[in-house]
Amino acid sequence: MRAFAVDSFGATGSVHKLPVPEPAEGEVLVRVHAAGVNVMDPIFTGGWVKDYMEHRFPLVPGIDVSGVVEAIGPGVADFRVGDEVFGVSSKPFAGAGTFAEYATLPASGLARKPADLSHSEAAALPHAALTALAAIDAADPQSGQVVLLVGAAGGVGTIVSQLAAQRGARVVAVTSTASAEHARSFGASETVDYSAGDAVNELKKRYPDGVDALIDLHSDAEDFARYASLVRPGGVAVSTRGPAGAAAPQIESRGVKFVAANRAAPDRLAEISKAVDAGKLRVPPIKTFSLDEAPLAITEMANGHVQGKLVIAVR
Ligand SMILES: NC(=O)c1ccc[n+]([C@@H]2O[C@H](COP(=O)([O-])OP(=O)(O)OC[C@H]3O[C@@H](n4cnc5c(N)ncnc54)[C@H](OP(=O)(O)O)[C@@H]3O)[C@@H](O)[C@H]2O)c1
Repeated sequence: MRAFAVDSFGATGSVHKLPVPEPAEGEVLVRVHAAGVNVMDPIFTGGWVKDYMEHRFPLVPGIDVSGVVEAIGPGVADFRVGDEVFGVSSKPFAGAGTFAEYATLPASGLARKPADLSHSEAAALPHAALTALAAIDAADPQSGQVVLLVGAAGGVGTIVSQLAAQRGARVVAVTSTASAEHARSFGASETVDYSAGDAVNELKKRYPDGVDALIDLHSDAEDFARYASLVRPGGVAVSTRGPAGAAAPQIESRGVKFVAANRAAPDRLAEISKAVDAGKLRVPPIKTFSLDEAPLAITEMANGHVQGKLVIAVR
């Protein structure tokens, strides 16, 4: 099969000819149509978490998929050959990813693809939407509340904005100048331009009594603590970024709850499908790349200013 892979950490990578993998117990072989690009892809290819997780070379990145079931491993009862599926790869090692014509994934990470979406659209959803669900569960925004959203324009933020706005919350999005309009079109009521000055000082002027919740998809500990200082006592500060957790004691000392939100379990993919099919959730705008163009997608992802999602269209 054709698969994009890197042969060493930090290498640009190229399309390789690799054997089609065989599904192990509990796994499904998926004929990949499209693979979403996530922050973890440049992290894996760059070796940034090599001390914490096994990496196998040639390393094929890709943790999101949409495609068709090609074969079923032992013990899989929920899927049949020919089913159109989307979902997440959650292997205990990095390297057997979805930037390839075929990939094996645990059946527990897959669900039926939303009927009306193309494979490229469906591949944009799994990690972003599951992470957005976790952040919304943690913040639990209520009608009339103000939710400050940092990193609003990316894959996760585009979905968080929609879900918070649907609950009747006022979403205040911190974005670049270039992403402000995009954030508004996905549910933000108001934007603050982080490149125009100190966003925290600007927000203090606009919300002197504080905001009800912070969902931060971008900041490390220091900036997260500054944004969290805007949350009123009794409110909640949520981060999807591991390093932000270092600010937890400082935040909680003010009576603000801290939550580290990690991707929700894939059994909630069905909930995402249902919301899309019912017209209640819009897929983030996608920019597609071919398998040969994967290095461009990985570099753009690593640069950190993606609007919506990047997707590798494999077929
Ligand atoms: N814990 C988990 O399970 C989990 C799962 C998935 C993702 N994540 C994390 O969640 C975060 C968001 O993921 P994603 O896929 O949505 O990332 P993304 O697509 O790269 O989006 C990040 C967004 O942040 C914005 N941004 C960049 N610099 C900023 C700044 N200084 N202030 C405010 N916004 C800024 C960018 O747009 P503009 O600069 O144009 O505004 C970009 O749209 C990532 O850090 C990722 O690692 C965690």
